[in-house]
Amino acid sequence: MNNMEAIASLQQMNMEYDRLNHQKRQYAVLTYGCQMNEHDSEMIAGMLESMGYILAQSINEADIIIINTCCVRESAEQKIYGKIGSLKKIKEERPHLLIGVSGCMMQKPNELNRIRRIAPHVDFVLGTDMIHTLGNVILDAYTQRKLVVQISPDEYRQIDEGLPHSRQDDYRAWVAIMHGCNNFCTYCIVPHVRGRERSRTPTAIISEITQLTRKGVKEVTLLGQNVNSYGRGLQTPIDFSDLLMMVNNIPNIQRIRFMTSHPRDLTEKLIKTIEISKHVCEHIHLPAQAGSDRILQLMNRGYNQLQYLELLTQIRERIPHVSVTTDIIVGFPGETEDDFQETLKLCVKAQWDTAYTFIYSNRSGTTASTMVDQIPIAVKKRRLQELMALQNEISLKINQQLLSTTLEVMVEGESQNDAQTLAGRTRTHKLVLFPKLTNLMPGDIVQVRIDEVKTWTLHGQVVPYDTGR
Ligand code: SAH
Ligand code: SF4
Ligand code: F3S
Repeated sequence: MNNMEAIASLQQMNMEYDRLNHQKRQYAVLTYGCQMNEHDSEMIAGMLESMGYILAQSINEADIIIINTCCVRESAEQKIYGKIGSLKKIKEERPHLLIGVSGCMMQKPNELNRIRRIAPHVDFVLGTDMIHTLGNVILDAYTQRKLVVQISPDEYRQIDEGLPHSRQDDYRAWVAIMHGCNNFCTYCIVPHVRGRERSRTPTAIISEITQLTRKGVKEVTLLGQNVNSYGRGLQTPIDFSDLLMMVNNIPNIQRIRFMTSHPRDLTEKLIKTIEISKHVCEHIHLPAQAGSDRILQLMNRGYNQLQYLELLTQIRERIPHVSVTTDIIVGFPGETEDDFQETLKLCVKAQWDTAYTFIYSNRSGTTASTMVDQIPIAVKKRRLQELMALQNEISLKINQQLLSTTLEVMVEGESQNDAQTLAGRTRTHKLVLFPKLTNLMPGDIVQVRIDEVKTWTLHGQVVPYDTGR
């Protein structure tokens, strides 16, 4: 049965269920990992809705639960296995419940055996780039007594094009512009589980974003493991700067974001494009990963500390008020105290707005996993604390320069902790909290005068405004 036929069969089955039980079958998707996974989950949700499932208010009511997994660090895997384990009881109480596990973790060799061994209550497994097969997988899971498996067999995969999405927000959207990664940073599992780099065609991307803006989307975030290498291998010669310009010209788009930028591939042309494109936001996520040249080389990053800093200077000269954020790993195999000091030095010199800091996690199958001299966990934890303390000071100092300024903020919604407070983001991706005004809706643009700053947030008051609606 082809995928369309499978979806049609499920629609029939679900309609029949609805007729007999006077309620629709419900779904839940639990997402771990990065934005690319969030985006995949929206596609999984879109597929489930096209089969006739509706979103469950809680997982206890769901008839099908899909856990979309990440394996970038061991801590993510531990959390996920904890969650899978906790579903065993729900399944015992509701035997008709289908449980699926999807995403990066399922593309690791031996993971299937682990699921079979410790999670026999799982009904199906779906690898990355396999969302188009979900109809057949679910149909098989209803009819077969054994684990149904659909994982990507090779590294050179097709792109899931034209599938429905059920997006979380009406005013903003993730848009994948490419899939996979060719960089093979030696610590990283992503290229092993997401396959080789493939770019979507500009036509597919522009048409998707145009349709989104027609439905009211004002902000898009273009996603790829390394957006700066967009276009390689496409028939039409095009690079990421060209694509940004095209997106910038789409009517009614207000903000364009993108991630992630690999420092090695960030060109002068791109800096210029960000500078002159009105809707491209002044924020670059530029993972440095480490400060020591020796470690950067062992990581296979393709730049040294000086080159990274020169790039930063160039960016800051050309793009006024730009914010730059980064990712840093501490405790890469063989990282000496001197190497770590280089990371601290880079932190001071780079003056990042925010750094996402991670303890190196050994991922089997990667080159670094077999390197000798893995660093003891106590040392890694101490280095992480030191780095975070330093970075927090820097983030706060940078934010203090924003005191008493007025910034353009796009409203996201109520703050997580307080229904009387609204949260929004500056073009530079800083989180701003301000007292709620009832006429404001997510996606509205307001001017906020900043009167208090913290390490992670800015606080202020809306100044008399035009919402831009
Ligand atoms: N393609 C993106 C995202 C990769 S995963 C990029 O290149 O930035 C996000 C971050 O997780 C990476 O930037 C890196 O800092 C971190 N990371 C990846 N593998 C890791 C590992 N084995 N241990 C700890 N952190 C890791
Ligand atoms: Fe991983 Fe490096 Fe690719 Fe990012 S660029 S996904 S860190 S291999
Ligand atoms: Fe993202 Fe985790 Fe996969 S970071 S690409 S979901 S391994």
